[in-house]
Amino acid sequence: MYRSEDRAKTESMNQITAQVRSCAHCGLSETRKKVVLGAGNLDAKIVLVGEAPGRKEDESGLPFVGSAGKLLDSLLAVAGLVRDDIFIGNIIKCRPPKNRRPKKREVAHCEGYMMEQLGIIKPEVIAPMGNSSLAYFQERFGLEKQVIGDVHGEFFEIDAPWGKIKLFPLYHPAAAIYRRHLLGELEEDMKKLGELAPL
Ligand code: URA
Repeated sequence: MYRSEDRAKTESMNQITAQVRSCAHCGLSETRKKVVLGAGNLDAKIVLVGEAPGRKEDESGLPFVGSAGKLLDSLLAVAGLVRDDIFIGNIIKCRPPKNRRPKKREVAHCEGYMMEQLGIIKPEVIAPMGNSSLAYFQERFGLEKQVIGDVHGEFFEIDAPWGKIKLFPLYHPAAAIYRRHLLGELEEDMKKLGELAPL
């Protein structure tokens, strides 16, 4: 699930994983099958952050393994990236029933885990995918609230606890499944992201 040159990072991430597995801070713990912490490279420069696990993720415990995940893999290929180059996570670690939007208090209970994970990885770029994830980071880092359609593919400087880094909003891949015309824009944005690689 995690890879890193640095054993301390893997151990810290495993500790958070254990905490989340026993977390019962909100009602989602009663309906989840598996928690979904995220997966990938703990030494990554780029972290992609979705909203919350869906049905397939809830069953497997892995992020973006359903149809949005398949599209995400082909978008990563456009950027010249594979999952092992980056880290992919979600703001919320448990599936909201029927994939409803996470509630504010569920985000409030869960966000500490995301911030701890980011503090271990210390990425140079955080790419929130979709409006929920974008809104979370805009609020967390004091950016003006704007919707994804207006700011996707732009870099915003933010002051993370580990230094100045960039926020790079992306459409959620699921949006491009239902609105195919977004696919071209998403591909262009992914190419821009890929220019930051190699690690
Ligand atoms: N959508 C998300 O936002 N996250 C996942 O892990 C899967 C689908």
